[in-house]
Amino acid sequence: MQHQAILVLDFGGQYNQLIARRVRENKVYCEVLPYSTPIEKIREGQYSGIIFTGGPSSVSAIDAPRCDPAVFELGIPILGICYGAQLMATVLGGAVDRPEKREYGKVSLDIIKQDSLLFRRVDAHTTCWMSHTDQIIQLPSGFSATAKTSSCQTAAMEHAAKKQYAVQFHPEVQHTPQGNLMLRDFLFDVCGCTGDWHMAAFVQDAVEKVKQQVGNRKVLCALSGGVDSSVAAVLIHRAIGKNLTCIFVDHGLMRKDEGDMVVKIFREQFDMNLIRVNAQQRFLDKLSGIIEPEQKRKIIGEEFIRVFEEEAKRIGSVDFLVQGTIYPDVIESGTGDAAVIKSHHNVGGLPEDIGFEAILEPLRELFKDEVRMVGLELGIPGPLVWRQPFPGPGLGIRVIGEITEEKLVVLREADAVFRDEIAKANLDQDIHQYFAVLTGIRSVGVMGDERTYDHTIALRAVTTNDFMTADWAQIPFEVLARISNRIVNEVREVNRVVYDITSKPPATIEWE
Ligand code: XMP
Repeated sequence: MQHQAILVLDFGGQYNQLIARRVRENKVYCEVLPYSTPIEKIREGQYSGIIFTGGPSSVSAIDAPRCDPAVFELGIPILGICYGAQLMATVLGGAVDRPEKREYGKVSLDIIKQDSLLFRRVDAHTTCWMSHTDQIIQLPSGFSATAKTSSCQTAAMEHAAKKQYAVQFHPEVQHTPQGNLMLRDFLFDVCGCTGDWHMAAFVQDAVEKVKQQVGNRKVLCALSGGVDSSVAAVLIHRAIGKNLTCIFVDHGLMRKDEGDMVVKIFREQFDMNLIRVNAQQRFLDKLSGIIEPEQKRKIIGEEFIRVFEEEAKRIGSVDFLVQGTIYPDVIESGTGDAAVIKSHHNVGGLPEDIGFEAILEPLRELFKDEVRMVGLELGIPGPLVWRQPFPGPGLGIRVIGEITEEKLVVLREADAVFRDEIAKANLDQDIHQYFAVLTGIRSVGVMGDERTYDHTIALRAVTTNDFMTADWAQIPFEVLARISNRIVNEVREVNRVVYDITSKPPATIEWE
């Protein structure tokens, strides 16, 4: 390994990839491996430090996840977080107990040892995020408590000489405002990292890995023009060039000029093998007469896979399939029994009929903004890298009611005006998703003394962190006025524009 690396040993906590991300943000390379990783492999990794994640188990449970205790003898600095802290305490000879009251949420943290390498830059009284049932009641020999809360005497402990540190709280989450100072000091002062890693190194490593895995074999990628599949495709292309073939299924439900842009970028700029399948009519035929949103999604998803499979068969045998899976997809599709509000077809549906050996998911461990950084690093143009999220079924779920080509034309034009004005007002980075909806309502208007009976366009714009909840964006009135004016003047068959002022919940971001 050429660069310094931190090992995040995963005990099943919900924040394990977030810890990895925080390490990367500090420009230190990091790998996440399961807690059961053999000690030889850990030794071989020559890690500069190890972070134990939290986890849902109780260390006293018989089947509690435990790593090889020899890890404490390697002389590598360790930081245990939450379950990781409790595990350190018990394995090293201390004790953990279950108090009457569990500690959950934002809690005041008092630093006991201000000159601890972990807390030197942290305020004496700060806030931390706690989420635990068990807590350390007896320190292992050689350890001292370095921070406490009102109900937890050992919120942090350390054995500085052995470079072993433990915190009961979660320094990686935003609710621990000084958490990054602690992590940073662990990485730099305790582990001696220098912070010289960057996304270019990620790209280099990922490209190398793909070269090794794929060799001279054939890879196929379904390119949607979205950020994730685009970045994944360009990365794989850098590794194996023309052995990658991309299939872009144009379902005719893209925004104005989008299909052409995708083709231009990937064929001309990157010189990729790109097959564009013009399947617009096929999708329209299948969607004819369909008004129910979930049925639309299902049809679009299934048809997409069918078209893709047919095209793939034409190419002949392939060995690998690329997926632009990113870390939030991995969590979201893993949660199982949440109620289905909308079925998102980018999760799950894989073509089954093409034989392939394995799936390549080079972005599986990255968060969205990290994927964008990789995209920029690979030379993908800004408008594509910063593209707002666009649902797989595209405009199909933004034409309310039956989808026809005429309606799609109206919607595309109105949407293009909306996007243009938002960009001109410099609001495109502040509003996280914005688009036009063809509401399916016709209403009466008057234009040049003539009665009209035309479409109503709704504008939807939201600000959000995670797209699970969202606020409607407070677009300045004068910008809304310009947008409305231009749409009714420039887009045929539209005589009314309304602005959607509902948050999510109770509404959703899309109308269907
Ligand atoms: P909702 O409408 O559920 O949307 O508030 C949340 C986010 O998901 C996107 N979305 C979809 N993405 N396939 C997708 O790939 C879909 O069927 C789909 N439906 C909604 C939506 O645009 C928003 O970003």
